Amino acid sequence: MGNLYGLIGHPIGHSLSSDMHNVAFQKHGIVAHYESFDIQPPDLQKAIEGMKAIGIAGFNVTVPYKVSVIQYLDEIDEEAERLGAVNTVINRDGRLFGTNTDGRGYLHALMNKVGQDLSDKSVLVIGAGGAARGVAITLDHHGVHRIDIANRTMAKANELIRDGVSHTTSKQPLTLEKAMRQLGNYDVIINTTPVGMFPNVDEMPMYLNELKRGTLLSDLIYNPIRTKWLQEGEKRGATVLDGVGMFVGQGALAFELWTGISPDREQMRRTVLKLLGER
Ligand code: ATR
Repeated sequence: MGNLYGLIGHPIGHSLSSDMHNVAFQKHGIVAHYESFDIQPPDLQKAIEGMKAIGIAGFNVTVPYKVSVIQYLDEIDEEAERLGAVNTVINRDGRLFGTNTDGRGYLHALMNKVGQDLSDKSVLVIGAGGAARGVAITLDHHGVHRIDIANRTMAKANELIRDGVSHTTSKQPLTLEKAMRQLGNYDVIINTTPVGMFPNVDEMPMYLNELKRGTLLSDLIYNPIRTKWLQEGEKRGATVLDGVGMFVGQGALAFELWTGISPDREQMRRTVLKLLGER
């Protein structure tokens, strides 16, 4: 058997990651296998010790362990430190090294749509949870000068601004209502909340009456692939970026870290779209 890779989380369900990586291993002639492991919360430490004992080559970490896994790793890099979360672990000679490819995966997908230079873009992030942190802190670190955070709970948005969004012009979080009234101010609007996710596909995080044409509307949700919010945006002349872009982006970067090979992202995307279509 070749190298073993995996995913830990809870619940895991049918993971898209395992198919995406296994197809990519095959495509690039790498003898390896990626498996999903559903770990109960009290078993996290034992699971990490087990990963080490079996000599796993690397693994991804998903909800709810992206933060709690850190205490059981040997080392984390600056990026994981900055985001306060780990989604990718590499086994380096028996030492578990944690990093985070979520933010860069998103950045990659975003730059594919709007170009490499994001510094003059005005960005609105809706939500202030784990996914919002990954996106907003990475954009800030990348030199985006204006990032506003709008969230239902102001305290959480304040925390995010304090922890890593230093360029934001307002310095104050926005209520969802205020952000909705000034949507025309933004070049890029990103939904990081689960509003509109299956099965609540008729919900939208925010109405789009004030949206200006040509704005990039981005939803991290990938089930459904085209949320109602993105569909509404398209009708109003927005360019849209679905959540598959970030999912593939984070996976491709993890694959590269593990194998040293930059995978065929288009093929990874096709694998994921096919799986989503089959559900
Ligand atoms: P994740 O790790 O996926 O980001 P999370 O940390 O639970 O998940 O964060 C979810 C985000 O979506 C939060 O910003 C949450 O708002 P609150 O901070 O007020 O809880 C937001 N969210 C979830 N459901 C929402 C809803 N029905 N309306 C508006 N915002 C919602």
